[in-house]
Formats: sequence, structure tokens, C-alpha cells
Amino acid sequence: MKPLVNKIVCIGAGYVGGPTMAVIADRCPDIDVTVLDLNEARIAAWNSEELPIYEPGLAAVVSRARGRNLRFVGQPEGAAHVAAADAVFISVNTPTKTEGEGAGKASDLRYVESCAHFIAAHATGHTIVIEKSTMPVRAANRIKSILASARPGVTFDILSNPEFLAEGTAIRDLEQPDRVLIGGERPEAIQALAAVYTRWVPAARVLSTGLWSAELSKLVANAFLAQRVSSINSISALCEVTGADVEEVAEVVGTDSRIGPKFLRASVGFGGSCFQKDLLSLIYISESYGLTEVAAYWQQVVDLNQWQKRRFADLIAAPIADDAGSLRGRRIAILGFAFKKDTNDVRETPAIDVCRRLLARGASLIVHDYKVTAEAVSAELGARGVEFALSPEEALKDVAAVAVLTEWPAYATLDWGRLSARLKPRTVVFDGRNILDAAAVRRAGLFLRCIGKGAPHDR
Ligand SMILES: NC(=O)c1ccc[n+]([C@@H]2O[C@H](COP(=O)([O-])OP(=O)(O)OC[C@H]3O[C@@H](n4cnc5c(N)ncnc54)[C@H](O)[C@@H]3O)[C@@H](O)[C@H]2O)c1
Repeated sequence: MKPLVNKIVCIGAGYVGGPTMAVIADRCPDIDVTVLDLNEARIAAWNSEELPIYEPGLAAVVSRARGRNLRFVGQPEGAAHVAAADAVFISVNTPTKTEGEGAGKASDLRYVESCAHFIAAHATGHTIVIEKSTMPVRAANRIKSILASARPGVTFDILSNPEFLAEGTAIRDLEQPDRVLIGGERPEAIQALAAVYTRWVPAARVLSTGLWSAELSKLVANAFLAQRVSSINSISALCEVTGADVEEVAEVVGTDSRIGPKFLRASVGFGGSCFQKDLLSLIYISESYGLTEVAAYWQQVVDLNQWQKRRFADLIAAPIADDAGSLRGRRIAILGFAFKKDTNDVRETPAIDVCRRLLARGASLIVHDYKVTAEAVSAELGARGVEFALSPEEALKDVAAVAVLTEWPAYATLDWGRLSARLKPRTVVFDGRNILDAAAVRRAGLFLRCIGKGAPHDR
């Protein structure tokens, strides 16, 4: 049997499922694409003009395909679409487990498993089930065993097709991916999915591997990316005490073609829903195979990131705390809350840990972000001691310090000459992303502290 993919269902209309299916539908107008989610509010938003996630270019892609060959539906309506589908993507969340065996490290597969039960209950004929979610290696076995409960005569192929898009550049990453990875057992099934991607991705960029290699490759890719951030962040601390400049060091190091320039920007720390959870998953898997040294090696990448966030919060606190170390009565402007620019996603944003640490020491905060809502900020920080500003200007009112936590380009061009009128002379501005116009901040009579730049730069 040579499967063909004409009807696709994707379970999970999140940051991955929504944009990925929108691009598939956009590039393949003859393929019928249904995205289903049990979160009805999210589905309603996908069907409105106010999409549930912010991603540059997404609205245009959705508006071209929605109502033509792309639809977003709730779970009850989704069952019939699963029955008719040739291929069903599972693109639900796989967060770190919070209870039970492996709590705090292992990936929680309950959402994936519930999708597998849903597919087993509704699929007919032959269906290709595709892991789009990031899974622990060998997770396909769990899906297979659930699918085995389907009615007699209903058959499946299982593929692992992990997603490598980055939030903020998701549409570009989907339209021009470095590679598409398809892991599987039966070449016919791999070919059927590859035939979808090669409609717009050069065939040489569609890689195929075994199932376990595909599952593991996604975890390893994120671990390597996170490791680069922790590596340069560790050097940022060394730069601050020695007077070296981390941007100069990164530039020199990155020109080595064996190393390359990407992901060498020192910052307040990495965030997002994936890096830490995927590292923890890799650590848990290594531990469960008795590879304690491997686990300890990757744990250090997580620990360094936690340390960098604490370090940055303490750097902000140092010049403004009272003699007892308290920040009571100190108001701090937080510029940027999203975990990176061009997204409204706040999952695991370093701003959460930095802000919580400052709040715990008694500070009050006034937070600004271009895409994150006041509700999303208070969901993370609570309402006590936290205000939300609608502009950077508004955030600077009566503050003892200013901290930039997200690299929104608009912060790089702030007019510090004008803004300084709202601040006391020598107010400290902490640049957690090294994006501010340092000369302009200093010319305005303010004191600038940057990640990875030591005292010599302050003179
Ligand atoms: N966000 C990223 O940048 C990114 C990048 C690559 C891979 N991934 C991986 O992709 C997966 C999804 O991530 P995301 O960021 O899109 O998550 P998300 O939380 O934004 O979306 C997941 C969606 O799945 C829905 N869902 C959960 N269980 C369901 C069920 N049984 N039936 C129907 N819908 C269900 C949720 O309601 C939610 O809307 C994760 O495994 C993640 O690790 C994420």
C-alpha cells in the first residue's frame, strides 16, 4: 500500500500546530487541513481576526488559507475529520511533569496519550500518525500501544516529525527550514509525508532517519542551542570582572567557522517553553539509562541559566537596596517581559524569575512589553507590587532603576535624552540584552550596566 496524504488533521492549535498547519495549507492548496483543539477559546481566536498567538507574517498566511483548505475546529467536531484523515499530527504540549515518577524532569505525556486514545477511537482505514510534539526518545512505543486498541482492520504508521521552528521567526522557519526531519519505520510512510514538504522545501533538506534518532535529535538540537547560551553567559560573568567585553569575545569566537556566530549573544538567560523542558527531559532519559555523567553534564546548562537570572536580579538590586538588603519602597521599571522579541509568549521567560526575585526582596515593579498583555504578566507575578505600563515612557515614572529584559528593537532606539527627564540623574539602567544605545544612555546622565561588560566601560 502506498499512502497518499490528501487530508490532514493536527491535534493541538498552539504555537506549533497553528503556524505549521497554516503554512502547509498555504503551500498545498489541494490538501485539506483541519486543526483541532480542546481549548474552545483558542479555536474561536484562530477563527477570528485576533489570532491567539503573535508571530510576524502569521496573519497573512492564515487569511490566505482559512476558509479555503484550512479550518480550526473544537474537539467534538474534530472526530469526523480524524476518521477521514490520511495523516494526523499530534502537536500538543509536552510539559515537564509536576507529579509522579520523574516529576520535575520527565516530559508529561498525558496530552499526547489522550490524543492517541482519540485517534484510536475515531480513525478508519489506514492513518499515518505523526509526532510533531517534542517527545522523549522511544515515546512512539507508547503511542503504538495505545493505537493497538483501535477497531480491527484500522491500521497505522507512526512517524516522528519534530518541529524546529523558533518563535518570533516561525513563518520564515517553516517556509525556509534548515531541514525537515522525518523518522519512521516504513519508507512508504516517510515518503508520503516527505511528498507534502517537498512541495516547497528542497528535497535535499528533507532528512529521514529511524524513529528513535528523530525523537532524540530534537532534544539534542535544543540542548546544543541552550548550551551555547549558557556557555556565553558563563563567559559574560568573567568579562564583567576582568573588564573584557562579551560582545567582542563572542564576535571573535564566532568567526571561527567551526564554531559559527549564532546563539552567542550573552543575555539575562534563555527562556521559552522548550529549552529547559527539553534539557530536563534529556537529563531524565540519561539518568534512567544509568548515564549519570551525561545527565550531570546537561544539568549544568540548566543550572548556569538559573544562576544567570539570579545574578542579573542581584545586579539590579545591589545599587538600590537599603543597608539591610531590602528593596522596600524601590520601584523598578521592567522593559520587556516576553522571553524574546517578536512573540507574546511568556512561558519560562527569564523575566519571571528576575521579577519574582526583585518582588521577594520588597521591590515594586512597573512592567512594559509590546505584545505581552497585563493579564499575562499578572498571571505569572500576581497583582501585588506589579503595575503595567502601556509605553516605555510611562514605565519610567518614579523608578529607582530600569531593567531591559527583552530585546524588542524599539527599546534600542529609545530617546534617552528625552526620557532622562523622568529619571533621577545617575539612575542605573540595566541592559539584560545588550541592545541599548550605550552612548545615548550615558550622554543622558544615566549609569549603564550591561551583561558581560565590566567596570572599565562605565568610566
Ligand atoms: N513553541 C515552540 O517554539 C516549539 C518549537 C518546537 C517544538 N515545540 C513542541 O511542540 C509541542 C507543542 O508546543 P506548543 O508551543 O505549540 O504548545 P501549546 O501549549 O501552545 O499548544 C498545545 C495545544 O494543544 C492543546 N491540547 C492539549 N491536549 C489536547 C488534546 N488532547 N486534544 C486537543 N488539543 C489538545 C492545548 O489546548 C493547546 O492549545 C510541544 O511538544 C513543544 O515542545 C514547540
